[in-house]
Amino acid sequence: TQSQIGLIGLGTMGAMLALNIAEKGFPIAVWNRTVSVTHGFKAEAGALADKVTPCETLADLVAAIKPPRAIILMVPAGQAVDDMITDLRPLMAADDLIIDAGNALFHDTDRRAAEAAEKGPHFLGIGVSGGEEGARHGPAIMGGGLRADWDRVAPILNAIAAKYKGEPCAAYMGPAGAGHFVKAVHNGIEYADMQMIAEVYGVMRDGLGMQAAEIADVFKAWNQGPLQSYLIEISGEVSAATDTHTGKPMLDMILDRAGQKGTGRWTVIEAQHLAATIPAIEAAVMARNLSSRLEDRLAGEAVFGTAPQAGANVTLAQLEQAMIAGKILCYAQGFALISAASNAFDWPMPLPEIARVWREGCIIRSSMLNDMATALTEDATRNLMLAPFFADHLKASHGALRQVIAAGALSGLPLPALASGLAWFDMMRTGRSTANMIQAQRDFFGAHGFERVDGIDDKHGPWAGHGI
Ligand code: 6PG
Repeated sequence: TQSQIGLIGLGTMGAMLALNIAEKGFPIAVWNRTVSVTHGFKAEAGALADKVTPCETLADLVAAIKPPRAIILMVPAGQAVDDMITDLRPLMAADDLIIDAGNALFHDTDRRAAEAAEKGPHFLGIGVSGGEEGARHGPAIMGGGLRADWDRVAPILNAIAAKYKGEPCAAYMGPAGAGHFVKAVHNGIEYADMQMIAEVYGVMRDGLGMQAAEIADVFKAWNQGPLQSYLIEISGEVSAATDTHTGKPMLDMILDRAGQKGTGRWTVIEAQHLAATIPAIEAAVMARNLSSRLEDRLAGEAVFGTAPQAGANVTLAQLEQAMIAGKILCYAQGFALISAASNAFDWPMPLPEIARVWREGCIIRSSMLNDMATALTEDATRNLMLAPFFADHLKASHGALRQVIAAGALSGLPLPALASGLAWFDMMRTGRSTANMIQAQRDFFGAHGFERVDGIDDKHGPWAGHGI
């Protein structure tokens, strides 16, 4: 029997995705640059091996798939994707389909979609979230490209995707790079959620002097409430883990230097291009960057000393509320960014659908996303923080967020994502801001002009002529 689909790249994610596809009953042809990996994959596929056709050459791979063919690429983002497309193009028919399932920069996906329209074969860019476990048993999938191409492979993608109460967490997001754009925003939110969790962990560890095991219990308790989410769950698990080498808490043995592959940074750069405001995500990327500058931090500590930290004036209940507020604000920023991109790129990205797709399978899955899906279904044009459900939550929790940030400031505990979220919230509810001062300064030094509050037609201040 001919395979229904092909997959290139049998690294961890590719191998897991291929097994998932085979398990759902779709015969799959696979190819990896190292032939022994390809054969090893079939050998290790166990009961699924009869669904797997290992191919030694790309020509064999193409020949093994039923036309019109679809081939998934699971290779490192960047040049490797372009190289594979270049190698596949002469082997594939014009109406065949290449699907890039890696974490591509969405601008690259736009370019590849345009090249595909000119030279063929067809091209889809899909964002796949959920790590190794998700790839194997059900990821969230965000697709971009031609609707007809999505529809063609949707039966397979829906089958392998995570399910939320039976509904597949896979959806078409829009043309060209829309799927990879939504995945990048997912990752930006992932960074911010992780950073805020790291910040409240810091308050517990350094401000309240709690041990990792006690912190684990707090996260486990929070995971039963409004904060229920995969990231809170695993934060409880990593806090509870013991290092096999030393017998100490595992967390205490891990160097505080965070890695990143770039998706969070791309989200921030794109938000700047769109003048969208995502300070919690920006703060999270900043914090990762600064975490890796260990030498700078040690130099700072040598000069200024570590601020007195213990005895933070904050309760665990306030911390939980602060985290709830921070989380709502960070998601409100992320969805507003998608909204801004929808308008700017003329991609009508389906906000409620995005929230629905994120409810299961992906790294940021959480019970709150179901409430977000509901709020965005009611009205996708309004900022999420204004939806009554979330407005009520924020009214009840922003006081605690203030208390936590104030306690952090007084104790010398940095809380960049939470604090920038609060500043954004306060700016978002300030009808009369201080930008009149900015406008006055701009007019003074550069005669840039301003609008008046009373409508009088005079764009300049009495300082005209004083400028340089
Ligand atoms: C996901 C993740 C995943 C990402 C890792 C690592 O949704 O499954 O976002 O795609 O690659 O989380 O990302 P960083 O190395 O940038 O932290």
